[in-house]
Formats: sequence, C-alpha cells, structure tokens
Amino acid sequence: AHDFNNLLMGIQGYASLILLSTNEGHKHFEKLKNIEKYVVRGSDLTKQLLGFARGGKYEVRPTDMNDIIKSSSQMFGRTKKDITISTSFESKIWRVEVDQGQIEQVLLNLYLNAAQAMPGGGTIHIETKNVEIDGNEPRQKYFKPGRYVRITVRDTGIGIDEKIKGRIFDPFFTTKEMGRGTGLGLASAYGIIKSHNGFINVESELGSGSDFIIHLPASEKMSKMETVIADKLFMGNETLLLVDDEEDILKIGTEMLTNLGYKVMPVRSGTEAVKLFNEKKDEIHLVILDMVMPGLNGSETFDLLKNIQPDIKVLLSSGYSLSQEASQILENGRNSFIQKPFDINRLSSKIRELLDREAPA
Ligand SMILES: Nc1ncnc2c1ncn2[C@@H]1O[C@H](COP(=O)(O)OP(=O)(O)O)[C@@H](O)[C@H]1O
Ligand SMILES: [Mg+2]
Repeated sequence: AHDFNNLLMGIQGYASLILLSTNEGHKHFEKLKNIEKYVVRGSDLTKQLLGFARGGKYEVRPTDMNDIIKSSSQMFGRTKKDITISTSFESKIWRVEVDQGQIEQVLLNLYLNAAQAMPGGGTIHIETKNVEIDGNEPRQKYFKPGRYVRITVRDTGIGIDEKIKGRIFDPFFTTKEMGRGTGLGLASAYGIIKSHNGFINVESELGSGSDFIIHLPASEKMSKMETVIADKLFMGNETLLLVDDEEDILKIGTEMLTNLGYKVMPVRSGTEAVKLFNEKKDEIHLVILDMVMPGLNGSETFDLLKNIQPDIKVLLSSGYSLSQEASQILENGRNSFIQKPFDINRLSSKIRELLDREAPA
C-alpha cells in the first residue's frame, strides 16, 4: 500500500502542476479539481488499508491468537457448510499486541479466499506456533530477529500461479469476476499486519493449495515474564512443613509452594511445628522455618526438630540478614537460608537445591 500511496502522490502532483497553469475559466478546470478530490479519497482508502483510520477504535492489547482463531473460524465455518475447518494450536502461545477487530478482519479475509479457492468444498487448516527468528536465514530478511507467533492458514484449493504471486497483495488486484472480488482482501490484510510490525507472505503451488503465513511479534512484556518463570522456577512434589507466625507469610508461602507443585503443611508456631513433625516425620521432606517467632523461636524449634530426626533438612527464613544463631545452624550443610521477603524464583531454587543435596558423607 506504500507503493500505492506513491502512485497517488504522482497523480496528485501532476494534477496540481496542471492546475497551476490553468485558470478557473478553463474548460478542464473542474475536471482537474475532481482528479484531486479522487486522489484524496484514494489516500483515505489506503489509510484504511493500512489500518490507521479507525479513530479511537484502534485498540492494541496483549492477545491470545488461539482464542481469536477459535472464535472467528467457528463463526466462519457455520456460514460455509461444504468447508471443514481444522486447527492445531501452540499450547503455550506467546501473546501478541494486536487490535482484535483488525486481526479478525485479516483472518476472515484469508478464510474467505481459501473457501473461494475450493469451489467443490475442502478443508481449511489453521495452525499457530511460537517461533524464534535469528535473522540468519536469507528468506527471513524482512524480519527483525526475535520472537514471533506464526499463524498459517492453509487450503487445498486451486493454488496461485507463479506469474501473479507477486501481485496478489496489491490493492484492487483480483482474478475474480465482478461482484465476487474487489481485490482489497489481501491488500488490507497486508496493511494491517504491517501496522502491527508483522509480516504476511504466501507459499502456494498451482493445483495443490496455498499457505498464507502471518508472523506477529510476541509481546515483549509477556514473553519476558514467561522466560523468567520458565528459566528459573524449580518444581517439586515433596511435602514441606512451613513454619511462620505471620498469617500473611503463611498464606503467600503456601500459595507459592503449591504453585511449584509441593504439598504444604502450614503451621503458626514452633510448638505446633514440633508436634506435627513428631506425627508426620516420615512424610515431611523439608522444613521452612522462620527464625523470629514468639514462644519457641527458630533456633529452639530447630533443636527440637533435630532431636526427632537428626538428618532433617531446614530452610531458615528471616526478615533480617543471617543472624549468629542462624549461621550456627547452617554449619552442618543440610540447611540453607533465605531472606524475607522471598520471591518465588529464589524460593524455588533454594528448596530444590536443598532437597537434591546428598547427605554429607
Ligand atoms: N487462498 C487462495 N487461493 C488461491 N488464490 C488466492 C487465494 N487468496 C488470494 N488469492 C488470489 O489473490 C487475489 C487477491 O485476493 P484478495 O486481495 O483477497 O481479493 P479478492 O478475493 O477480492 O479477489 C485473488 O483474486 C486470487 O487470485
Ligand atoms: Mg478476498
């Protein structure tokens, strides 16, 4: 559509030049004025094609493409009885920042083209995939390296002749008869995807079908967060005794640990901890113990627990940095320390490290 704007620019320019040397009385003056008006309307249209002309309705949100494809393809399938729609979705798809309405419009255009390419009926297959593009492949020269969500819309239709492949994204290019095609479907798809910093291209073989392939950049915020979690969370399914006198810490801690896969027994005091450990010492793999508590403090609780089971594993926690008492407890190597407030990444790695540590020889 950029080339199209340049073209309009040319028409506009020459019309203006002629107008400059034409006075109002000239018999072609009105006609030249009309050319200018049509150029303005043409450039409004390209703005629309590029997806910029929707005023306040243009809204970009982190979006799950699987959801959009599910709903739009179902809707489309209901209107076309002889078309089967099949999908295969990336399960943990990265989010993309898109205007939902515009992306739906792109998809519907692709479905419609696919259906029109299969006059005897057939299957539209839609696939989503997370892909990382490193920029080393020559075919991918259009892409900035990075993470993309790739959407493929595949049909088993008539395919596209090599001779016209280069033109199908041009505005007003159509091979369809009047009334069936306007030649704007792919041009608007191209404009919309471009305005989302993505890319759309086609692979097709005459007689066997076409793939329209869209790449949309993965949302930075979301994908970053996912990598941190994916890289740094260590899971487990062991049973943990969590000892803390503060209700909120117990709640948050329990939730974090449950999310990591652990079974959690939360207790609010050293006395309760000792009692429960006495009953369930064969089930409990690790104790997370607050150092500063009323009643039995962390150090006293530790001694009692150690009497019950000498090779107990304890992760000490404290709002203060490592105290004298705590460092003594840490001496024997089966224990570790974590400073509050703990975040789930650090917590998960400390626990995993302790659980996987061999007994000292
Ligand atoms: N899935 C497809 N299979 C075969 N040809 C296609 C397909 N999609 C697009 N085309 C070709 O690209 C042209 C332009 O498509 P489009 O911009 O949607 O306009 P229209 O559908 O109105 O013709 C079509 O006329 C057709 O020749
Ligand atoms: Mg079309």
